[in-house]
Amino acid sequence: MTITRNSSLLERLQAHKEEGYLSLHMPGHKENTGLASYLNVLNADLDITELPGFDDLHDPEEVLARSMKKAAALWDVPKSWFQVNGSTGALLAAIRGATRRGDKILVARNCHKAIYHAMELCGLEPVFLLPPVEETFGLSGSITPEMVASALEAHPDVKLIVYPSPTYDGVLSDTAGICAVAHEKSIPVLVDEAHGAHLGLTDHFPPHAMAQGADMAVASLHKMLPSLTQTAILHATGRFLKIPQINRQTGIFQSSSPSYLLMASMDGCIRLLEEQKEELFAAWSRRLAEFDDLAKGLKHLRLPGHGGEAGASYPGIFGLDPAKIVISTRNSALNGVELMERLREDYKIELEMALDRYAVAMTGLGTDDTMPARLAQALLELDEKYGPAQEVAPLETLQELPPRKMSIEEAAMTEGGVDFLYDSMGKVCGEYIWAYPPGIPLITPGEVITPALVADVERLYRAGVKLIGTRGKPPYTTVAIEG
Ligand SMILES: Cc1ncc(COP(=O)(O)O)c(C=O)c1O
Repeated sequence: MTITRNSSLLERLQAHKEEGYLSLHMPGHKENTGLASYLNVLNADLDITELPGFDDLHDPEEVLARSMKKAAALWDVPKSWFQVNGSTGALLAAIRGATRRGDKILVARNCHKAIYHAMELCGLEPVFLLPPVEETFGLSGSITPEMVASALEAHPDVKLIVYPSPTYDGVLSDTAGICAVAHEKSIPVLVDEAHGAHLGLTDHFPPHAMAQGADMAVASLHKMLPSLTQTAILHATGRFLKIPQINRQTGIFQSSSPSYLLMASMDGCIRLLEEQKEELFAAWSRRLAEFDDLAKGLKHLRLPGHGGEAGASYPGIFGLDPAKIVISTRNSALNGVELMERLREDYKIELEMALDRYAVAMTGLGTDDTMPARLAQALLELDEKYGPAQEVAPLETLQELPPRKMSIEEAAMTEGGVDFLYDSMGKVCGEYIWAYPPGIPLITPGEVITPALVADVERLYRAGVKLIGTRGKPPYTTVAIEG
């Protein structure tokens, strides 16, 4: 099928399908409809509304209530809610349900934008935890119990702790250690486990956050498991939190007309896991091990925790999720964005994301037997063809927080003037600037525009990373407020 400017979205989707790309991006079913029958039949002829016999997500009593109970049993938690507005909606609900306006929250700087939006909407005061920049690959490392303990010393009035584990790059934090510190002070811990729906269900992957003591965790079923895009799950214990309040909030941040196709995919996914998780996860893990074996010969591209570095550990990183294959281009003549382009154009392999120094291949429960050889072969060839290059230093904004002059909400709501970024150094930024994915801000509203920010923006631009300013302006200009 030839695609023209006028081609519809459906035609584009069909043409993409015909191309036969290897999916190393979301969703976790990898378009592998052979994995389970429910993935094949979720069409408009099943797209109904809350008719008798089909239950109601906003007042579940029958089939949905039973399915969510099964999910809670699978993760071994007291309460789980299906979510049709992704981890985004679940995080908004969890944060609003656990805080009151004006509360302080301890939050990892490398959080996803959903958490920044929750803080803005709920009028929360963030105390940022800046994760260490891991030296070998320049990834944002883990949040540690020690960092949490010292932040709580300085801010004993914190009401909630939030951080991602695993991160977009698969970096895990020591949730058991963090919960021990937090619980001593009766402070609840919410783990953004959007990338970790597969964790802890079998011994093939590390334990999930709730098993390590988290009070709430949010996981995108769609990211790693075979469930349709937008589906997620929120888990909670009643410890330090009021379940009815969280329940109420889940109703606020989701459509009043949740899609039965999305809900049937969550129900199907839970049933599939109940029946076949051991063999499906064993096969996934075997494919990852096969990839590791085949990719051992890389010379310049590096694979933290994979290939020749399978099982390796790195200072600043508590653990790595093996489902993510981070491809470090730090020593390669290709940068992350170029690597992603070469894989797409020369090998029909589509990755999840790229920044200047690395790219991320996301495997999932739908990853099939073709992945190991196809990805390893492509990487080995590109490694040989493009060769080595001088190392690039990590981004400067990962290493130091800029000074804050206003709250996020105040700055985001102030009109300000649109300035060329270079001319706005020293002024207060009126917006977020991030690459999406991963949706982690280089700067947030209310922070001062520093030379480090300008250098990072320019560097990412030159590397081909598309940056987004959240007021819709191209980020070489920004909304700046006289500070
Ligand atoms: C760390 C993290 N948290 C939350 C989200 C939001 O998840 P969703 O797309 O399911 O709304 C994302 C999305 O990529 C993410 O990377």
